[in-house]
Amino acid sequence: MEVLHISKLLESSAEGLHHLKPKLSLFGKCCSMLIQLLCLHIQLSLIQASTGDIQVNGVDSYEKVVILDAGSQYGKVIDRRVRELQVESEILPLDTPAYTIMEKGYKAILISGGPGSVYSEDAPQYDGDIFRIGIPVLGICYGMHVMNREFGGTVTKSEVREDGQYEVEVDTRCVLFQNLEKKQDVLLTHGDSVDKLADGFRIISSSASAVSGIANDKLHLYGLQFHPEVDMTENGAKIMKNFLLSVANVTPNYTISNREHQCLSYIKEAVQNRKVLMMLSGGVDSTVCAALLSRALKPEQVMALHIDNGFMRKGESQQVLDSLTSLGLKVKVVNASKTFYDATTSVPLDLDDPNSRRRITQALCRTCDPEDKRKIIGDVFVEVANDAMAELNLNPEEVYLGQGTLRPDLIESASHIASHAADAIKTHHNDSDLVRQLRLAGRVVEPLRDFHKDEVRQIGVTLGLPSSIVQRHPFPGPGLAIRVLCAQEPFIDKGFSETQVLVRIIVDYHQSLVKKHALLNRIDNATSQDERELLLKISSSRQMAATLLPIKSVGVQGDHRTYSYVVGISTNGEPDWEALSFLARLIPRICHNVNRVAYIHGGMTKDPVHDITPTCLTHNVLAILRQADHVAHQILGKFNCYDSVSQMPVVLIPVHFDRDPLYRVPSCQRSLVLRPFITRDFMTGIAAIPGKHLPLEVVNAMCSELAGIQGISRVLYDLTSKPPGTTEWE
Ligand SMILES: *[C@@H]1O[C@H](CO)[C@@H](O)[C@H](O)[C@H]1NC(C)=O
Ligand SMILES: *[C@@H]1O[C@H](CO)[C@@H](O)[C@H](O)[C@H]1NC(C)=O
Ligand SMILES: *[C@@H]1O[C@H](CO)[C@@H](O)[C@H](O)[C@H]1NC(C)=O
Ligand SMILES: *[C@@H]1O[C@H](CO)[C@@H](O)[C@H](O)[C@H]1NC(C)=O
Repeated sequence: MEVLHISKLLESSAEGLHHLKPKLSLFGKCCSMLIQLLCLHIQLSLIQASTGDIQVNGVDSYEKVVILDAGSQYGKVIDRRVRELQVESEILPLDTPAYTIMEKGYKAILISGGPGSVYSEDAPQYDGDIFRIGIPVLGICYGMHVMNREFGGTVTKSEVREDGQYEVEVDTRCVLFQNLEKKQDVLLTHGDSVDKLADGFRIISSSASAVSGIANDKLHLYGLQFHPEVDMTENGAKIMKNFLLSVANVTPNYTISNREHQCLSYIKEAVQNRKVLMMLSGGVDSTVCAALLSRALKPEQVMALHIDNGFMRKGESQQVLDSLTSLGLKVKVVNASKTFYDATTSVPLDLDDPNSRRRITQALCRTCDPEDKRKIIGDVFVEVANDAMAELNLNPEEVYLGQGTLRPDLIESASHIASHAADAIKTHHNDSDLVRQLRLAGRVVEPLRDFHKDEVRQIGVTLGLPSSIVQRHPFPGPGLAIRVLCAQEPFIDKGFSETQVLVRIIVDYHQSLVKKHALLNRIDNATSQDERELLLKISSSRQMAATLLPIKSVGVQGDHRTYSYVVGISTNGEPDWEALSFLARLIPRICHNVNRVAYIHGGMTKDPVHDITPTCLTHNVLAILRQADHVAHQILGKFNCYDSVSQMPVVLIPVHFDRDPLYRVPSCQRSLVLRPFITRDFMTGIAAIPGKHLPLEVVNAMCSELAGIQGISRVLYDLTSKPPGTTEWE
C-alpha cells in the first residue's frame, strides 16, 4: 500500500480535475478548484497532522520556521523545500495567533499562496500581529497581498486567475535575490496583484504587467507574487535559501544524518522493550522503515512479515528479503501465491449496500471484473496475514505496529478532499485483525512520519540498503494482477462504431475536410482554430491509422472514475512523437468515451479490431507479463533512464492485431503496453514523451525487445496524461 494507497486516494481526488488540459494553466485552475475543497478541511487536517506528534525527550533541537497555510496545495511543497534546505518546518493554519508563534520560538514565518482574493468574504483570516513581532516573514501570492494590505496598500481584484511561467526582473541588491541574475523565470500567479504599495515597502521584482515582489527590509518583511517553492521557478530554492539563511539567520543543521539519529531515539523511546510487527510490501517506505527498526532495536524485537501474493515482479520478494537479511533483520516470508490463485470471496450484490445479499466470486484465476479482483486479493491478504501472525504467537498487549507513513500522507490523509470513489478505496482496507486491534489501541510506530519521499530514499542509502531497492518505483499492492486487463468478451457498446469513425476522421482530418464529413462539427466544437490548423498540418504530413480497441481502461473524466475505450494510433516509418502527444490530448476531448491514446509500435495496422483474446490471471499470462516487465525495466536501467520516469507500468491487454479481415484466424495473441509516467505529486502527471523525456533508442529497444516475446502481437506506448487516464490501466 504505502504511497500507492495514498496516490489512489489522490487519483480520485483529482477526478474533479478531469476536464482541465495538462498545460501550464492547469496550475491556476487546479489551485482554485482544489483549494475550494481543501479549504474546507485543511484546518482539520493540519491540526491532526500536528497534534499527532509524539514528543520525544532528550533529543536534538533545531531552529524551526512555521508555514502558515492559506489553503493552497503548495503548503506541502513549501514544507518540502524548506526541509531540503535542512531547516525544520511546521505547517499551521493561517489564523494561528501571533502569540502562539512567538511562544513556540519560530525563527521565520512563510505564508503560502491561497485560493482567492483578500477582499472576498470567505478570505482566510489571519492575525495582523504576525507582521509586528519582529519575526521575518515571506509572503507568497496571497501571503504578499495580506502583507501589503496590512500596511495600508491595496490589491486589484481580478476575476480570472491563471498561473504560468513568466520572466520577471528582480532587484539583485535585495538580500532575497543576492547572487542571482536580473532576469528570472518564475511560476507567476496572474490574478490579484498589488496596486498601491504599502507604506514603508519598496518594489523588488516586477513582471511585464505587475509588481511581483515587495519588501520592507527594516521589518524583515518580503512578499512575492510568484511561487519560489516549485520547480518551475528556476532559482526558487536559492531565493528560499536567501530568505531562511540570510534574512532569518536560521542554522541549517536539520540534516538527514541528524534526523536519522532523532528517529532512532524516537523508536527506542516508543517501543522500549516490547516488540514491533512490520508488514513488508516490498516498497521503499516499508523497507526503509523495517531497516530503521532493526537499527534501533534488538533483533528479537522486530518481526518482519512479507506475504508473496504471486503478483510481485520478477525476483522482487527475494531482493527485499536479501537486502534486509544482510542488515541483520529476520523476515518471515509467506509464499501464498497458490492460495491467492484459487481464492474466492463474497461481495454484496448491491454494491451500495454492504448488507444486501451476497454472491461468491469466481476463483481469482478466472475473475475478469477489476473490482472483484481487488476485493479477492484484499480479503485473502487479511486471511493469510491472520494465519501468519497467529503462527508468530504475538501477544497483542506487547506488540507495536510499525508503519511506513510519510509526512505528506499525514498532511493529506486527514483532509477529506477525496470523493466517494476514494472513500470506497479507503474502506477497502487491507488490515488483519491484529493490525486493526493495534491501530485502535494507538500502538503504532511511524518512524518516517516526519519525512518526505526523497528523504526516505536518502535514509535508505545511509542505512546501507542497495540503491536498486531505494530508488524503486512505487508498485501497487495487488501488483501485476491489476496490470493484466482481463476479459472474456470484447467491450462494444452502442457508441463503438461512431467513435471508430470519429477517430478516423481526426487522424485523417485533411481528407475529412475535403469530403465534408458529417461528424466534423464534433471536432469543431471541441477545438480551437489553432488546434484545427495544427491538426490539418499533422494529418496531411503523414498517413496514420486510428484503431478503437474493444477494451475498457480506467481513467478520470467527469467527476468520477471511468472505464472507457482506448485508441491506438499507428503509422509507417518513424513516429512524430510531438504530433502523437498532441493527438493524445485532443482525442479524449472530442470523444468522451475514450480515456486513453497509445501509439502502436510496428507499422500501420490495417484492420479494425472487434474481438479479444479471452484473458484472465492464469500462470501463463502472468509469466508473460512478469517477463515483459522485467525486460523493459532492465533496458531502462541499462541506459540509466530509471530515474527519468516516476513509474513505468507494463500492461498486458487482450488484443490481437493484424488478423485477416475474414477472421479466419482466431484471436489468440495479446499485446503489451508501456506506460512511462512522470509525476511529482501523484495527483496529476504526464506521459514521458520519447525523444524528450526518454531517449528514442531506449523506447525503440524496449518496443522491439517486448515485441519478440512469444504470444505477443504488438507493443503499445501510452501517451495519455492524467487526467484523463490514470497511471494504471485497471
Ligand atoms: C542546530 O543549531 C542550533 C543553533 O545553532 C542549535 O541550537 C542546535 O543545538 C543545533 N542542533 C543540532 C542537532 O546540532
Ligand atoms: C496490503 O498491505 C500490505 C502492506 O501494508 C501489502 O504488502 C499488500 O500488498 C497489500 N495488499 C493489497 C491487496 O493491497
Ligand atoms: C511460491 O510458490 C509457487 C508455487 O506454489 C512457486 O511456483 C513459486 O516459485 C514460489 N515463489 C517463491 C518466491 O519461491
Ligand atoms: C456543436 O455546437 C453547436 C452550437 O454550440 C450545437 O448546436 C451542436 O449541437 C453541437 N454539435 C455537437 C455534435 O455537439
